[in-house]
Amino acid sequence: MLRLSLLSSIGLLGFLAFKLGPKHRPPTLHAPSITTITDIPSSSSPPPPFRKLTYDVFISFRGEDTRRNFTDHLYAALKRKGIHTFRDDGQLEKGKSIAPELSKAIEESRYAIVVLSRNYANSSWCLDEIANILDCLEKKKVLPVFYDVDPSDFRKQTGDHFKKAFAKHEKAFKDEPDKVQRWRSALFQVANLCGWHLKDDGYESVVIQEIVEKISSELIQTVSISEDGLVGMDSHLKEMRSYLDIECPDVRVIGIYGMGGIGKTTIAEVVFEREKAQFEGYCFLKDVREAAEKLGVVHLQMQLLSSLLKIDEDVRNTRMGKNIIKERLRNNRVLIVLDDVNTEDQLEALCDRKWFGQGSRIIITSRDEHLLRAFEVYKVNPLSDDDALQLFRMNAFKEDHELVGEESLKQSKEFLKYANGLPLAIKVLGGSVNGRSVESWSSELDRLKDNPEKKIIDVLKVSFDGLRKTEQEIFLDIACFFKGDDINRVIRVLKGRYNHCPRIDIKVLIEKSLITLLGKKLWMHDLMQTLGQEIVCQEYPEKPEECSRLWVHNDIIDVFDQSKATNAIQSIFLKGSTKDDVVHSINDSFSNMHKLRLLKISNVKFSGSIKYLSNKLQFLQWDDCPLGSFPSHFQPDNLVELHMHSSRIEQLWRGKKVWRLLRHIDMTGSQYLISTPDFTEVLSLEILVLEGCTGLVELHPSLGSLKKLVFLNMRNCKSVESIPPFTSLESLKTLNLSLCSRLKMFPKIEGHMESLLELDLEGTSFEELPPPVEHLAGLTKLNLIGCSKIVEILENLNCMESLEQLYIGGTAIRDTSFLVCMKNLKSLSCKGSRGLDISDCNQMDEDIPDDLSSLISLRKLNLSGNCFVRLPEIFFQLSKLVALYLWNCKRLELVPQKLPSNLKFLFVDGETLILDNLCMMYLTI
Ligand SMILES: *[C@@H]1O[C@H](CO)[C@@H](O)[C@H](O)[C@H]1NC(C)=O
Ligand SMILES: *[C@@H]1O[C@H](CO)[C@@H](O)[C@H](O)[C@H]1NC(C)=O
Ligand SMILES: *[C@@H]1O[C@H](CO)[C@@H](O)[C@H](O)[C@H]1NC(C)=O
Ligand SMILES: *[C@@H]1O[C@H](CO)[C@@H](O)[C@H](O)[C@H]1NC(C)=O
Ligand SMILES: *[C@@H]1O[C@H](CO)[C@@H](O)[C@H](O)[C@H]1NC(C)=O
Repeated sequence: MLRLSLLSSIGLLGFLAFKLGPKHRPPTLHAPSITTITDIPSSSSPPPPFRKLTYDVFISFRGEDTRRNFTDHLYAALKRKGIHTFRDDGQLEKGKSIAPELSKAIEESRYAIVVLSRNYANSSWCLDEIANILDCLEKKKVLPVFYDVDPSDFRKQTGDHFKKAFAKHEKAFKDEPDKVQRWRSALFQVANLCGWHLKDDGYESVVIQEIVEKISSELIQTVSISEDGLVGMDSHLKEMRSYLDIECPDVRVIGIYGMGGIGKTTIAEVVFEREKAQFEGYCFLKDVREAAEKLGVVHLQMQLLSSLLKIDEDVRNTRMGKNIIKERLRNNRVLIVLDDVNTEDQLEALCDRKWFGQGSRIIITSRDEHLLRAFEVYKVNPLSDDDALQLFRMNAFKEDHELVGEESLKQSKEFLKYANGLPLAIKVLGGSVNGRSVESWSSELDRLKDNPEKKIIDVLKVSFDGLRKTEQEIFLDIACFFKGDDINRVIRVLKGRYNHCPRIDIKVLIEKSLITLLGKKLWMHDLMQTLGQEIVCQEYPEKPEECSRLWVHNDIIDVFDQSKATNAIQSIFLKGSTKDDVVHSINDSFSNMHKLRLLKISNVKFSGSIKYLSNKLQFLQWDDCPLGSFPSHFQPDNLVELHMHSSRIEQLWRGKKVWRLLRHIDMTGSQYLISTPDFTEVLSLEILVLEGCTGLVELHPSLGSLKKLVFLNMRNCKSVESIPPFTSLESLKTLNLSLCSRLKMFPKIEGHMESLLELDLEGTSFEELPPPVEHLAGLTKLNLIGCSKIVEILENLNCMESLEQLYIGGTAIRDTSFLVCMKNLKSLSCKGSRGLDISDCNQMDEDIPDDLSSLISLRKLNLSGNCFVRLPEIFFQLSKLVALYLWNCKRLELVPQKLPSNLKFLFVDGETLILDNLCMMYLTI
């Protein structure tokens, strides 16, 4: 029996994240008969500048020859190594010539593997592809595999196959002789490249392994400035590689030290991306300092465990976390990056050489050299003059940076005198003159020249000073309030304040490198944040209460406790720590703050009440708010979002209120809330979260007429007994009524509701599912887990053709005939559904319903906990089935040959099975 550990993730289906552990060995192979024609030349010059590289590898192949076997195995092997690979899944093969998506994928790939098989040349499609590949990629990045064909046939283009194929093409494209000639020439060129020849007595797995190794070792070497302007990265990488010394079996901790803005994180990221494939598990913990402050080190320990082992441990304290890490990881060879560490505590909780398996590497970045004293330390030096110039020009001239004249070269060098080789400062300075003629740069330079002894923060300020007023205001809002928030939220919230759309200002800030986007989150470098905060502090250095924005905990508490509030304050961001038990009085704290726009309070305990709250509020988040209601005249016309987790609010407002811009209300865990208010005039509301409002009993009828409402979450509103009729919830996409245990009836649907995609009724007391089918026609997800009173899925639900995920565990459903027409069902979980035939412990395999065969789209099936002996023949026909869960099927005898053809993931316990076409299998004892 085999116990495999879970390591890295393979992004299949999203919910499967397992990989074969180190102890799994493939069966030994006999000596292969493979001819490696020549070696791939290993020198590599950088690809042309600014070609965007989305993929590492593009695979070109003839679908009918190798889609299901060789190409599929190759693809899976590349993926497992973390190599980002594109293969056409057959969906695009429609028209006569190559689809634009394919051309784009080729252009954005670093390598192309061409699988030349028997029928390759008679597909005009493939020929177009190969011609495109040769146009886009350098020849040495094109790797042919001759799959059961003779390379000389391709070179000479003789052979029967060829003649026939090209005769056909010449006839079909007789008006386009150039095209056919281009194909011929492409084939000829590819056939003369070095690659692999797989004959019928060769072993595919050996060739695949060679290809994967070749590519992964080359990828590790190719990092060039064309990737996101990583100027100077080559030399950093070289240094880091010698520190890492990957081959060496001991455990190493390497510190990267340097001042803020020098590029420590970027170096760590690039090294991580390049080297991670060689480890059994890897994890990059970003912003340790900030995360530890906000969430605590225990959270970081859990994050480490979950990304290395794919387990979600409930770690209660730091010591327990340390023990689990030590216990679980001591045999694993891992790569860990701890980015921006600033205290000994963090190091102690996350990193000890002795915890990790042989050959592990831990990289720590820090601004504090003392903290790294116990480790080898790579000290990051400023950019060389040449690299600095290049980086500056890339930011100052963007696309045109190759075409820069003499004058601008001189000017650029002037700027660089002030940047001290600091990449961040160089980028920001470059951004500040971007889009402007060289003649007009002098004003920026003059500002720098003022004071030649400038600190780096003053250098950065030059860029701020060059901004327009609204851009400056938004920059300060982000530095003091919104850092880390979703960009769309920020735009929505700020829209009401400025006359034009803040999206444009934010774009300018990004272009000037003052802020960045991390996915959809607005982010800024610590130094830029410090700059923004210092600018605000300068408004009134000794009197925070006179400044426009407050974010320092003690300053804010001081203002509250001593009633120092003034008219100047526009935003307050108050974040306490969970340990803090002091209760502060809130009595009339907001009285003078007539301009307050942004307010965020969490983890600080208050008591008392207020008589006034600014009507200028645009964003209000107040967790554990002690107020039972808002002041009576509170009329925030500009309020866009309202978040009141665990508040004591009993009623949001009385009567009709026109909160015109309000889009998002989140009252999660507000147990005192008794009723929902009259929403009649709240016409913009899109998101309403009432999860865990356990005291809620009364829902105002206007709830059912919120035309713009997209998301309604009432999970665990366990006192609610009925919901008013849905008269016009025409935009609603997600409805979550799970754990509303007193709810017996689905709300009456009177108007349109065609937008609904997800319906969660878990744990409700519904006896039947009455919503007429036309309202659910678009439903993709339906959760009925634990609805023990539901006996059948009614006629009217029969043809929910778009349903992709269905959960019926714990219901009393017996008849499965409704499954027949659910052609898009991808996931069916019958866990614990006593009545359903396929999971009944007393049923034999003959009784598994034939209906399953019509679930042609099913990709995941969970039959865990059943007692059948054999899987029925019918499973063969589930041609899309990729994952099959058979945990705890004690009586099951699995016959390896009898599994669906595309099955890749099989989860069983007990017997060890080795199956050819499985790319992984997970077994426990
Ligand atoms: C690969 O699959 C194709 C059809 O899917 C088949 O024609 C071919 O013989 C297979 N090759 C091998 C080596 O099994
Ligand atoms: C390609 O050639 C093979 C055999 O030479 C033939 O079976 C197949 O039908 C041809 N395909 C096309 C699209 O012409
Ligand atoms: C705050 O006001 C409440 C009455 O609203 C009062 O009971 C309480 O003593 C006040 N707290 C302070 C610290 O003044
Ligand atoms: C309902 O809420 C729960 C808890 O927040 C969540 O796990 C579940 O996915 C939600 N259901 C839907 C359909 O969004
Ligand atoms: C399948 O069902 C088993 C047993 O009911 C459960 O433990 C497991 O989490 C389920 N797996 C998935 C992926 O739904």
